[in-house]
Amino acid sequence: MAQRESTSVIKGHFIDGKWRTGTTGKPDINPSDLSDVVDEFVEGGKAEAEEAIAAAKAAFPAWANASPQVRADVLDKAGTEILNRREELGKLLAREEGKTLPEAIGEVVRAGHIFKFFAGEALRLNGEVLQSVRPGLEVQIFRQPLGVIGLITPWNFPIAIPAWKLAPALAYGNTVVIKPADLTPACAWTLFEILERAGLPQGVANLVFGRGSVVGQALIESPDVNGISITGSVTTGRAVVARCAQLGKRVQAEMGGKNPMIVLDDADLDVAVNASINGAFFSTGQRCTASSRLIVTEGIHDRFVAAMKEKLLALKVGHALDPQTEIGPVVDQSQLERNLSYLDIARQEGAEVIGGALVERPTKGYFMQPALFLNTTPSMRVNREEIFGPIASVIRVKDYEEALRIANDTEFGLSAGICTSSLKTAQHFKRHAAAGLVMINAPTAGVDYHVPFGGVKGSNYGPREQGTYAREFYTTVKTVYVA
Ligand code: UN1
Repeated sequence: MAQRESTSVIKGHFIDGKWRTGTTGKPDINPSDLSDVVDEFVEGGKAEAEEAIAAAKAAFPAWANASPQVRADVLDKAGTEILNRREELGKLLAREEGKTLPEAIGEVVRAGHIFKFFAGEALRLNGEVLQSVRPGLEVQIFRQPLGVIGLITPWNFPIAIPAWKLAPALAYGNTVVIKPADLTPACAWTLFEILERAGLPQGVANLVFGRGSVVGQALIESPDVNGISITGSVTTGRAVVARCAQLGKRVQAEMGGKNPMIVLDDADLDVAVNASINGAFFSTGQRCTASSRLIVTEGIHDRFVAAMKEKLLALKVGHALDPQTEIGPVVDQSQLERNLSYLDIARQEGAEVIGGALVERPTKGYFMQPALFLNTTPSMRVNREEIFGPIASVIRVKDYEEALRIANDTEFGLSAGICTSSLKTAQHFKRHAAAGLVMINAPTAGVDYHVPFGGVKGSNYGPREQGTYAREFYTTVKTVYVA
């Protein structure tokens, strides 16, 4: 008789070009249907993290010195497979994370494009040659890979964020160990299967599942890891930044947001409502770029609120794979409880709460109607703390000047939007919004893959991600004097 262990092979890490399996694991549950176990994955510890770091370190010299054509080919091939499998991978993503199928397919396409973009970047990495101020000397400036990089990624973009950290890291010749979010292992596992098929040499990219406090910590503490790139909460991000500073390690942290969307009297009402509904509630509001503070001037306030209420209450919340669904489930029980606790906080603070009901569907899942808080003031907790759910509040203001002051009055600074038909106001806002991203008559969330992404103030630490700017983190500059 076969032993029980031998019949259940649990998927696991990818270390030094080999797949590890286990006999026990953590179930990966579909938030749209709690009876649907997407898969099971092992949980690693410090030992696996250290093996992965050693593999990345051993693989570094050859990968760093490989022809850029070799690196470009691997990334391009991975991008092609991701794009070809967009429907199937989108389904997996929607099932695992809960965003709707069109949103999930959109994210998969974004990941595919990111790999293609950085395939080209591998070939475009350039330097500079200058005349020295001293006679007979020439100065050359060139970029080299940083070394072994630890990547720590969140659950809300389970394929795009690993893609936008892995692709530039690899394009510029680094080797990596990634610890993906506990809630979304299947997307990360599948991405590595694709990278393996694309011809990634042994040890160049390694995947270790496990807890942030164990595997993430091991990456941060290791003297063989030269840089850490993390996207996560403010609390985690700041702790990682502080520890990396102590260790003298390069770090890039992309953290939260409390993004304002200003709606002025001269805005096109439909544009403002559509941008606000999209920015606040799509992807179940689980985006660090989500619009959580809708700052609205007096003349349009009542019309805007009436239109928002109508649209919000008509949004179809349900199973991520149901074609009717516009808003998928919240990712898990603890995020749902957090969202509900903010409905109570809003009421206690004196706001009026629209929507926010728990919704029953044929399958048991974390379904919540989006919520809008009315009559809020800038100092309320709901306007200061990142909630990370399908929730936004409305702040009524007198004019643009007051709106701008309130928009910038936050510890965060990721994305800031404005709806106006005045070019003059839009021009002023783009200069004075304290944010890394400014959106004019467009939602605060939803970004392109070929341009820099990142924030200011508490939203970000270190250089920008994505586009050619990604090289600032993933390479180091060398200055050479030649006589
Ligand atoms: C987007 O708005 O398209 O975690 C991207 C996040 C961000 C990505 C947002 N790092 O939500």
